[in-house]
Amino acid sequence: MTAAESLVAQLSQAFQGELLPNEPMARHTTFRIGGPADLYAQPADRASLLLVYRCAWELGVPALILGAGSNVLVSDRGFRGVVIATEKALKATSFEGDVASAEAGVNLASFVRACAKRGLAGIEGMCGIPGTVGGAVVMNAGANGCEVASCLLHADLLTPDLREVRLTRDELDLRYRDSALKGLGWVVLSATFRLTPASPDELMERVHQMETRRRATQPVGERNAGCVFKNPPGASAGRLLDEAGAKGLRVGDAQISTKHANFIVNRGNASAADVKHLMEMARAIVEEKYGILLEPELLMVGEWE
Ligand code: EPU
Repeated sequence: MTAAESLVAQLSQAFQGELLPNEPMARHTTFRIGGPADLYAQPADRASLLLVYRCAWELGVPALILGAGSNVLVSDRGFRGVVIATEKALKATSFEGDVASAEAGVNLASFVRACAKRGLAGIEGMCGIPGTVGGAVVMNAGANGCEVASCLLHADLLTPDLREVRLTRDELDLRYRDSALKGLGWVVLSATFRLTPASPDELMERVHQMETRRRATQPVGERNAGCVFKNPPGASAGRLLDEAGAKGLRVGDAQISTKHANFIVNRGNASAADVKHLMEMARAIVEEKYGILLEPELLMVGEWE
């Protein structure tokens, strides 16, 4: 019996949701790229999420927590272990005065809009970021001069030894597209933000303007995983790549967007190896021209050659 089969057997009837063995991760990433996970678990509720996480831990099966799959490149060989999706299990929001909370699987853009409609300002800059609230906390996601760290009060987390802990913004050590949680494998259960009262109409108008700008400058609607590289201090990775002539470069079906050079788009059947190769080419041309080594922003997961 494989570890994933033991896990399925252990979960038995107590688990509510979907358990898909050998599930292609291309079905669950915005890139539409990625080989099979030994097991893909889509728990239907919080109790089932805790159950699968606990059983994986007890059996020594590696677990990868996945939100919207919008910021990851999963290898062609896929992931040895269980991928646990949060979108169905952790989807509640709550509002009290100027404090707004969302469970980790809540769509970030929907949460931002719900806050804006209630006249709660502070996170509206993140309106167009594809992803979940949990992923946004781990990455300290940001756009339009606003990031999770700007307004986060605290996040509730589950540790691998199944303790529920609350960490404040400072304890989470949120930095530019980085936090103490990255690579740790803890489950973000929810995040709580302190926002500022503002006019709902004005906020919705700002959201509208930022979404329009994003559609004009980024390959929205195409298969991509957000910005590929972090911006180096004082510069824009997109601009450096553009000026170095990277736009339109292609490896197989992976292409550097002709709209914004810090995006790679999957033109059809791009493999993870194609994307990785293209990232290496892009880094090399920026390093040669500017002496700057770009650092990947997207998370590379799974088994690589
Ligand atoms: N630019 C070019 N050519 C390009 C792309 C950009 O010349 O191909 C120029 C733009 O004209 C602009 C400057 O570079 O003058 C900066 O571009 P932009 O405003 O698009 O911002 P960015 O620094 O490239 C950052 C974030 C984005 C976020 C936008 C908008 C990073 C790595 N990128 O991009 O976040 O959406 O600001 O706020 O921090 C992400 O994190 O996945 C992401 C896409």
